[in-house]
Amino acid sequence: MCGIVGYIGPRAAQQVVLDGLRRLEYRGYDSAGIAVVADGALTVRKRAGKLANLEKVLDESPLPDAHIGIGHTRWATHGQPNDVNAHPHTGATRRIALVHNGIIENFADLRLRIEADNHELTSETDTEIVAHLLELQVRSGIDLTTAMQRVCQQLEGAFTLVAIDNADPETVVAARRNSPLVVGLGDGENFLGSDVAAFIEFTREALELGQDQIVVMTREAVQVTDFAGSPVEARRFHVDWDLSAAEKDGYDWFMRKEIFEQPHAVADSLLGRRDAEGRLQLDEMRLADEELRDIDKIIIIACGTSFYAGMVAKYAIEHWTRTPVEVELASEFRYRDPIIDSTTLVVAISQSGETADTLQAIMHARAQRAKVLAICNTNGASIPRESDAVIYTHAGPEIGVASTKGLLTQLVACYLLALYIAQVKGTRYGDEIEDIMAQLEAMPDHIRTVLDGAEQVYELARAHVGTRSVLFLGRHAGYPVALEGALKLKELAYIHAEGFAAGELKHGPIALIEDGLPVLCVVPPRGRDHLHEKMLSGIQEVRARGARTICLAEAGDTSIEPYADHLIRLPKVPVLLQPLVACVPLQLFACELATAMGHDVDQPRNLAKSVTVE
Ligand code: F6R
Repeated sequence: MCGIVGYIGPRAAQQVVLDGLRRLEYRGYDSAGIAVVADGALTVRKRAGKLANLEKVLDESPLPDAHIGIGHTRWATHGQPNDVNAHPHTGATRRIALVHNGIIENFADLRLRIEADNHELTSETDTEIVAHLLELQVRSGIDLTTAMQRVCQQLEGAFTLVAIDNADPETVVAARRNSPLVVGLGDGENFLGSDVAAFIEFTREALELGQDQIVVMTREAVQVTDFAGSPVEARRFHVDWDLSAAEKDGYDWFMRKEIFEQPHAVADSLLGRRDAEGRLQLDEMRLADEELRDIDKIIIIACGTSFYAGMVAKYAIEHWTRTPVEVELASEFRYRDPIIDSTTLVVAISQSGETADTLQAIMHARAQRAKVLAICNTNGASIPRESDAVIYTHAGPEIGVASTKGLLTQLVACYLLALYIAQVKGTRYGDEIEDIMAQLEAMPDHIRTVLDGAEQVYELARAHVGTRSVLFLGRHAGYPVALEGALKLKELAYIHAEGFAAGELKHGPIALIEDGLPVLCVVPPRGRDHLHEKMLSGIQEVRARGARTICLAEAGDTSIEPYADHLIRLPKVPVLLQPLVACVPLQLFACELATAMGHDVDQPRNLAKSVTVE
């Protein structure tokens, strides 16, 4: 939420900052702004709306030639998304420029203090108050670094702050608490970004910052301290993807590109998970087998699409390990009094690794001695850092706001975790685990098969322009798939969509069925627990009441044909793994329908990637 960029070095600051903002725009696109210092003067330009609006202003009136700059792309929290509330903000004498991500919770108190001091605030933001506080400090004769330390000690809430001072054009100062910030290390130049996409074009060497840390960046050096000014060691890491991963590569949308990257992403997430004897290994996890053996309950916490990955995980973990699993929205869990202790494993699933609710839920769980394992796609993000253990997914950067390859690789990580616990606890035999691993390893090809049929799904999607409501039905592991299909349609096409467990229909939702209503049905594979037959009955019930059914069913399943107005074929896979293929047509459907309706698929209204505020 909100993208932040900082630069110091020999290049033209305006260009570097704008390039970085373009790559971070998926984090928020309500407004954008940039500030540079040149010849001892601070220049700020900012505009409401997408980055293109700011770029137009800069084309008409470019910034002075500068080699230090900061930039921001905003997802509004305090105050309307207008020009005045856009970042950067400045202090009373326009000496300091500041960009901010997060929420300053004690801003009302600080505002009173500032106003009592006769400072006039022009915006409704919490950020402007911090800019004034910083400026008060530097005007008292101290440098920006010390000012940042002192001000951070007064702030409550979550924040990333990046500031420049026109009296010191050789230093960028930044701070972070519960909000993302990484440093890019160049040769004679250095970078700051909310994530590495901001500077991947220039360097793949990066520094991960910890909680409550300040970074002071010049052309030649990067110094990291705590809020009291004591030096701390920051972890250096190499970014293992390159610029092409952060480009659209000929696709119209990042989302479409990311959908088509899924076979690769799933294969990468499975890579290196077996030892020479074929036994499952999760070396990177940092959790000892003895600790896992003692676990008697698992609670999965996550938000949005990641929560649906957790729902699928429950079916797999309980079936393969016989360990009870609860799945809970992180935003609910964090305010609850859960029954957990040191034998509970809390699994936090997050693509970005920065979701505020999930992060706070982790703290809540750890405070009660539960072990926390993160499933995350972002190296060095807050969530894996605050957890006891981590399984990284290897989806590469996900830039489209709607999660696609993030979800599929989370599912893979959940299956791996389930199988690993089964191996450690001995609830499944080695050859059974090997069989399931072989089935998982075949999934990239199955996903490719689904993608080969994309045109059929696109046609169907285009035929639904003008549709006002769509229902999604599923059972068992197909139920979270139905919820996910509905979420994708809501967030991208702005169409009313609901997902239901097919068995619940008769308990209320069937009243929604009317003539012509599209109902997308995720049909379980045949052959286990009568799931397939039960789903078929549900489909017949809605069809009898006028629904137009679009059925996702496995290849060769002829029993569905009489009840499907449209049929999308899925490869034949086991029921627990079916979400890996069944989610894909639903992603394609939502992406194409939103495109046909003229919506911005990568930047849906009101949304932003990486929800770093509550
Ligand atoms: C929907 C979507 C969101 C995220 C949710 C959690 O397409 O992307 O619902 O899944 O905001 O984000 P992470 O996984 O980054 O914690």
